[in-house]
Amino acid sequence: MKKRSWAEPYKIKMVEPLNMLSKKEREKAMEEAGYNTFLLRSEDVYIDLLTDSGTSAMSDRQWAGMMLGDEAYAGSRNFYHLEDTVRDVYGYKHLVPTHQGRAAEHMISKILIKEGDYIPGNMYFTTTKLHQEMAGGKFVDVIIDEAHDPNSEYPFKGDIDLDKLQNLIDEVGADKIPYVAMATTVNMAGGQPISMKNLKAVRELTKKYGIDIVHDMTRVAENAYMIQQKEEGYQDKTVAEIVKEINSLTDHATMSAKKDALVNIGGFLATNDPRVFEEARNMVVVYEGLHTYGGLAGRDMEAMAIGIKESVMDEHQKARVGQVQYLGQKLLDAGIPIVKPVGTHGVFLDAKAFYPHLTQDEFPAQTLAAELYVDSGVRAMERGVVSAGRNKETGEHNYPKLELVRLTIPRRVYTQAHMDVVAESVIEVYENAKNARGLKMVYEPKYLRFFQARFEKL
Ligand code: F0G
Repeated sequence: MKKRSWAEPYKIKMVEPLNMLSKKEREKAMEEAGYNTFLLRSEDVYIDLLTDSGTSAMSDRQWAGMMLGDEAYAGSRNFYHLEDTVRDVYGYKHLVPTHQGRAAEHMISKILIKEGDYIPGNMYFTTTKLHQEMAGGKFVDVIIDEAHDPNSEYPFKGDIDLDKLQNLIDEVGADKIPYVAMATTVNMAGGQPISMKNLKAVRELTKKYGIDIVHDMTRVAENAYMIQQKEEGYQDKTVAEIVKEINSLTDHATMSAKKDALVNIGGFLATNDPRVFEEARNMVVVYEGLHTYGGLAGRDMEAMAIGIKESVMDEHQKARVGQVQYLGQKLLDAGIPIVKPVGTHGVFLDAKAFYPHLTQDEFPAQTLAAELYVDSGVRAMERGVVSAGRNKETGEHNYPKLELVRLTIPRRVYTQAHMDVVAESVIEVYENAKNARGLKMVYEPKYLRFFQARFEKL
């Protein structure tokens, strides 16, 4: 069959000029930022692949929706539109809006976790795990082993290992496990999807023991697209249908709408359980705002409602994930060590393979992100030992198997030409890899240290 290319299902109506510093200026900026890309000024960045969170371009419909903001303190029209959308598109019964995902994680953790509980999950996520711990729980990784191997080509590396889950239940008892934390596309594994087959099996097992499933649905539509592309029996289903089926197998959901849902700020907690809804509605007024706005403006909720509908369109996902795959394939063709298969929201560079001469105590992924910025002004993010933080009991670093740098692609923002520039820079940095020196941490914040830690060159 002749190759037919995908193209973006939109045209560009407004542009934002980019700024490019000289190499000397970038070296200075990186040093001043303590070799932490989170501490760079955005104006000093050329192509910003730090995150896909809150960095999407909104559509003309979403911008028009912003003008329909009903900024009443209580009962905003936009809240009801959002509530209807969450019911129609996602299938969850009750909605509590929040300013972003971690606020929903905070509430669900406090509501469901008791001191001494265990929370099994398909790999940790930084904020999710911290909220579980702060509520008195202990996170237990039950993802399949393939997820920790950057070279495993298994198509559903987000799957849960049912034996690991069963063993935990046998060991600590079902009454110590309030829920399984299940994320659609596993961020820290490289944006890897979970299969419907696995999710159904997890539902069956948890049902037997009366254990809930809390769904981190931050990138659920991207996961649905991967199921459509790769899982038997789903080729003729739409992304929208698959999203609904995934959600129907879970009890509660936390959402960072800054990703899939194409807005710059927003999130929510959704649940089918009226008691959890009742508690969350009580709690949200303490931390976020009234239950009909949860820290958001009316216009933000309107843009979110429209973004949710756009996010489940097949054409949108084809181009969104297609662009990520395009960059990944370019790097694979050049022999760059990346996490395989390429996931949905970014390409993850294997920093251990870039820098076999650096130990994890010399922060190889942190080093690689800094080198990349100095080479071309491309900003990426460390996802390795710095992100993994310290063990709560021993105080030692957690040493994750994966030491990654994430090139995260914002939705509808950059073009294929930008991806080419990024690929060329990564190749350049790889060619010079043996000259790289590691880093030492000179400032370490108490929580989520990767955001604000500072480093010096060894
Ligand atoms: N869950 C997942 C899977 C996430 O990727 C994020 C955020 C959150 C929860 C928290 O949501 O930021 O709205 O409070 N991830 C961003 C990232 C920060 O860059 O991957 P939030």
